[in-house]
Amino acid sequence: MTLWGGCFEGETNERVRQFGDSISFDRRLAAADVRGSMAYAEALHRAGVLTAEELAQLVAGLEGIADEIASGELVVGAGDEDVHSAVERRLTERVGATAGKLHTGRSRNDQVATDLRLYLMGVIPRLREELGGLQEAVVDKAAQHLAVVMPGYTHLQQAQPMLFSHWLMSYFWKLERDANRLLDVEGRIDVCPLGSGAVAGTAYPIDRATLARRLGFSAPSENSLDAVEDRDFVAEMLMWAALLQVHLSTLAETLIVWSSTEFGFIQLADAYATGSSLMPQKRNPDTLELMRGKAGRLIGLAAGFLCTLKGLPSGYNKDLQEDKEALFDSLDTVELEVPLAADLIRTLEIDTDRMARACSDGLLATDLADYLVARGVPFRRSHFLVGQAVLRAEQRGVPLRHLTSAEYAAIAPCFGRDLYKVFDLRRSIAARSARGGTAADAVKAQIDEARRRLSAARRS
Ligand code: ARG
Repeated sequence: MTLWGGCFEGETNERVRQFGDSISFDRRLAAADVRGSMAYAEALHRAGVLTAEELAQLVAGLEGIADEIASGELVVGAGDEDVHSAVERRLTERVGATAGKLHTGRSRNDQVATDLRLYLMGVIPRLREELGGLQEAVVDKAAQHLAVVMPGYTHLQQAQPMLFSHWLMSYFWKLERDANRLLDVEGRIDVCPLGSGAVAGTAYPIDRATLARRLGFSAPSENSLDAVEDRDFVAEMLMWAALLQVHLSTLAETLIVWSSTEFGFIQLADAYATGSSLMPQKRNPDTLELMRGKAGRLIGLAAGFLCTLKGLPSGYNKDLQEDKEALFDSLDTVELEVPLAADLIRTLEIDTDRMARACSDGLLATDLADYLVARGVPFRRSHFLVGQAVLRAEQRGVPLRHLTSAEYAAIAPCFGRDLYKVFDLRRSIAARSARGGTAADAVKAQIDEARRRLSAARRS
């Protein structure tokens, strides 16, 4: 059943119908659609458009449909072009002609914008919960491995020693920003378009503030035209998911490199690795590779939808129907993935020996420069002198600590005999005790702050 057609004499082309139908993917909005319709029926009654009997009839019909949706019994009819037509068709089957009054002053334009917002208001608390679970997995793992030392990298070259926990906690803060961004978008989703009609508002005395509140929104939208065409919130959700996915992707990439035979820093638990059908020795990080690979798709969905929006003329345009597949694909992906990432972190095995053995003396070159600074040498000069020592060690094919004190003294007399105390990874780490540094106490403070934020988020 189409919801239009009075002025048409001919039939719709079959391919046009197939091309335009959205029921295959928007049926997941069915529960939101029914909720919206119930609240709208009440609003129409309050506005004097529906009698109490008509309202009771519609509410009973809609409640029946809600049950059908919950039990999976709602059958899509051949002519249902979208979820709104399906619900209306079913309501007509249940209550007869009164169903036709529900659309008074309402358009599918304000209806679909409302449904999508309602749907997201149901999904976002789950996403927040899952993200919190991943953050918790990160913090717990970091707290358990506070003694583990590894090389810190820049440009994938050994840079300075670091606690494994410090590295891991760097992901907590990215995820914390993701969680805050989600809260932010949620605030903008919390606006009710219903009562905007097709474009210019409703001619019926609908109390939109009550209608909004009844649906759990904080406020009605302020401009009917903006309300029906606004999909900023969809774009924001897509960009939110894309950025989260970028974080997960770099985490995955790092772990993939670290799980290689050459690094051997970590091993994935059996449940999260896969084997090769040909090579018996393989432990493939497929899950991590997909976490990396899916970033391409999620970035594409966000960029693609912005392209959909960018050339639209003012008002509702059917292009906007493209919002749903992108949104559902993107959010389904992260909803499955975030708890998986949490499990993967929790079960990750860490080879502390391999990490320690991978630490070269080069990691302590900065500390050697700092040693000279403590002896009054300006940093630029000490940087140069240590560079000379690095060159000398490379030429001799030995680590920095194997150069003799005579060799150091030959580079510059300011190198004292006590310089060898610098070759201590833990000393270097402990020195970086300013807030945000890798010293154990600073990392513990970071973990405390992270836990404080997680429990505050749980309470809110
Ligand atoms: N299926 C449509 C969508 O998702 C519903 C709104 C249709 N409105 C219209 N004027 N054709 O956007």
